[in-house]
Amino acid sequence: MSAACDRGQLLLAIESSCDETAAAVIDRRLRVHSNVVSSQVDLHAEFGGVVPEIASRAHLVNILPVLERALSAASVSLEDITAVAVVTEPGLVGSLLVGLTAAKALCLAHGIPLVPVHHIEAHLYACRMTAGHDVYPAVGLVVSGGHTSIYDCRSPLEAELVGSTIDDAAGEAFDKVAQLLSLGYPGGPHIEQAAAEGHPGEIKLPRPLLSDPGLDFSFSGLKTAVRYQVHGVPGSGRPQPELTPQRTADLAASFQAAVVDCLVQRCRRALEQLNHSRLLVGGGVAANQSLRGALAEMCEGQGADLHIAAPELCTDNAAMAALGWERLDAGHTAGLEIDVNPGLIRR
Ligand code: KG4
Ligand code: ZN
Repeated sequence: MSAACDRGQLLLAIESSCDETAAAVIDRRLRVHSNVVSSQVDLHAEFGGVVPEIASRAHLVNILPVLERALSAASVSLEDITAVAVVTEPGLVGSLLVGLTAAKALCLAHGIPLVPVHHIEAHLYACRMTAGHDVYPAVGLVVSGGHTSIYDCRSPLEAELVGSTIDDAAGEAFDKVAQLLSLGYPGGPHIEQAAAEGHPGEIKLPRPLLSDPGLDFSFSGLKTAVRYQVHGVPGSGRPQPELTPQRTADLAASFQAAVVDCLVQRCRRALEQLNHSRLLVGGGVAANQSLRGALAEMCEGQGADLHIAAPELCTDNAAMAALGWERLDAGHTAGLEIDVNPGLIRR
């Protein structure tokens, strides 16, 4: 008997939009049978950020072993798979192409549907998977290394962008500030760890755009403010205090508090403006405990339900592409002519 018989239909999901090669097997009830993520963090660490050419070459090496591991961890074979969901947008063009090409080959060889998935919608769907019940309509915040955006989510497949960063993403700012403070890469977890020993009110840092009436974010000025605290203001001739472990911790805590303030205030405003009573939060930065706590407090005050993706579904993974079931049911399959869409432009 096929291992899949008692599990109903199974979706094979593929995600390769940035620097994680990931594959997962998910059933119709959104139970995750395997969720394999091969991280390239070590390859990009010395550059302090993702190098696109290195990323796509590593995806090429990793994609088949990751697919094999996902199938074997779920104890299924390709014959058991109902459809293949693959993230086709947005992301790095060379990285996306590796996942899509693998998905096309599998669908062609096995005669099964190909289901394109939007990376951001999948990050938000991770909240639906974590909750175990319907969580739409809602305000959606995606906060990661590549994106910091707010969406009006009317359903899993209808997310309208209502605010976004006008410069750096929040995760990118975590990564750059960690580099300035000589902490590790990726910066988020290292800043969070250092911040635990620091005082968030110790060093005054700006909250860019906070008095602006819209829903946009800006983090580059905050990053520059930290640089000035470390290296001094250019041309001022005033040296900064030595970067002792305590000052590093205080800077990390003060930076983290500034990012959290900006994210929480925008979410509160979006809940009010869009008149929603649910907030969905996904993306790598959503793993941050300080952010999770502050959002919980804000939502309680607003009488809103907070649904943050489980930590393993926050950073890039393929299980969140279980959104493919919704698309399959809505008839959103694709032919072999489909291409990747690296930008955020909808088509
Ligand atoms: O969602 P993700 O894995 O990839 C993108 O789509 O970008 O997010 C990665 C980002 C990195 O910038 C990383 O520093 C940040 O998420 N991150 C965190 C934490 N864990 C990961 N930021 C703050 N606190 C964390 N605990
Ligand atoms: Zn992501």
